[in-house]
Amino acid sequence: MKGIVFTEFLEMVEEKFGLEVADSIIENSHLPSEGIYTSVGTYEFNEMVSLITNLSKEVKAPVDDLIYAFGLYLFNGLSKAHPEVIQSYSSPLSLIYSIEDHIHLHVKKLYPDAELPTFKILEQTDNSLTMIYSSSRGLYRLAHGLIEKSFEHFNKTATVNFELLNENGTEVKFNIVQDGE
Ligand code: HEM
Repeated sequence: MKGIVFTEFLEMVEEKFGLEVADSIIENSHLPSEGIYTSVGTYEFNEMVSLITNLSKEVKAPVDDLIYAFGLYLFNGLSKAHPEVIQSYSSPLSLIYSIEDHIHLHVKKLYPDAELPTFKILEQTDNSLTMIYSSSRGLYRLAHGLIEKSFEHFNKTATVNFELLNENGTEVKFNIVQDGE
């Protein structure tokens, strides 16, 4: 997993829960990296699992809710790091539609070792999108947060529903409908 995900995660933890909580989850996670990340480095996905699990224990909040909150937070971090990517879109649905064929493709060129999910579009209309998230990491709630924040970024709102296609959430169907004006 790319370092930018870790640096953004720890920044969120510090902002929302304080430096002590950030330090404590790093210590309790016994990380090979010792919690020292650079945005372009690559680290074990397991380190993220440990950090989130320890955060969940420490702040007594469900892992899923924390991952979703992180998705909301991460959108801004990614758009600051790669403004040109976001700027090429004029609507949230066109941005989301292009994750697979443009955004993550671009990410893969920048960071060949990035481990990205795939999004398969099943159906598209002017105001809706149905797609399947697939990734062995099962970070569908991260995708959920990023999708919600895409609408907020364009001052829009949407109704986002998802359905797990298997128990571990490595295949998840999203149905996204932009709210009427
Ligand atoms: C709504 C828009 C987006 C969604 C739903 C989305 C979804 C995701 C998800 C769920 C992951 C976690 C990896 C996994 O699940 O296997 C991920 C990773 C990542 N995404 Fe996106 N993404 C979006 C937009 C972007 C944008 C705009 C950028 C930057 C230009 C970006 C760059 C990355 C990077 C750098 C990673 C980390 C890859 C790694 O750890 O190796 N994404 N994305």
